[in-house]
Amino acid sequence: MAEHKRYDFSVNDVSEVYAGPGGKLWELLMGEQIHVGGPEQTDILAIKAGLDRARDDFFLLDICSALGGPARHLAEVYGINVVGLDITPEMVSEAKKRTIGKPYESKIEYRIGSGLDIPAHSNSFDCVWGQDAWCYIRDKARLIEEIWRVLKPRGILAFTDWIWGPVRAPEEESDFLMEFMVFPDLQTLDGYSKVMENLGYKIVETQDLQEDFAKHMDKYAETLQKAKSDIEAGFGPELYLAAEEGVLAWQKAAHEKKVGRGLWIAKKP
Ligand SMILES: C[S@@+](CC[C@H](N)C(=O)[O-])C[C@H]1O[C@@H](n2cnc3c(N)ncnc32)[C@H](O)[C@@H]1O
Repeated sequence: MAEHKRYDFSVNDVSEVYAGPGGKLWELLMGEQIHVGGPEQTDILAIKAGLDRARDDFFLLDICSALGGPARHLAEVYGINVVGLDITPEMVSEAKKRTIGKPYESKIEYRIGSGLDIPAHSNSFDCVWGQDAWCYIRDKARLIEEIWRVLKPRGILAFTDWIWGPVRAPEEESDFLMEFMVFPDLQTLDGYSKVMENLGYKIVETQDLQEDFAKHMDKYAETLQKAKSDIEAGFGPELYLAAEEGVLAWQKAAHEKKVGRGLWIAKKP
């Protein structure tokens, strides 16, 4: 099958979305953990990554940490140290604000920077983590290679992400889906595994979360429509209409198995 198209969105385009109403809208739909399934999904990934057995000196890097919702949850529930990395200064300052005064505050640090050039020493993390965000990063091979650099030997790479599903969307539809989300590149379930295997990772587990993704899309569409008047009042009717059109298109594509979501646990030998 032909490769999926990549889109010309730069990191600045993505950052503008999260610095503006886009970030607020996603929080409204998904909560302050801006990924499908919220804290429940964070715990599922955490157990698979072995965080429940982690010692006090365990360091996790969350790439694309956004508002720091997962960072705070992981530090509070599993007692681990978390570095949250995000390219958007507005997200990092909000994450810091929401962490001040928490009993586990000293376990969390936020850094501004890109997952493609991680501001951290080599071999410094026990786990590198990501939730539904690397769809914003065009060059997955470079990202996964950079993660290899900062992971300690026998370190764990644990992430979920939005992916192309088994049914190929016509080009016009996939263009709309990607442009609405400002995604420069999506992988497939196997595509991501291949990127990791090519770089030497051992895949421990992959999971196809297609059905769960479609169910959550139903929920987000419903939440959006219920919040119509609040969104129109806060951001204007045009933004509401654009958001509704985009979310409904993703909901439809999810039910048609054109898009989905996957989970990966891999190990650096
Ligand atoms: C969907 S949100 C992430 C949600 C977060 N993982 C969570 O579960 O709460 C996407 C985030 O990725 C960040 N981002 C996009 N491209 C990035 C890059 N190249 N490096 C670091 N952060 C990036 C954006 O600034 C935004 O805050």
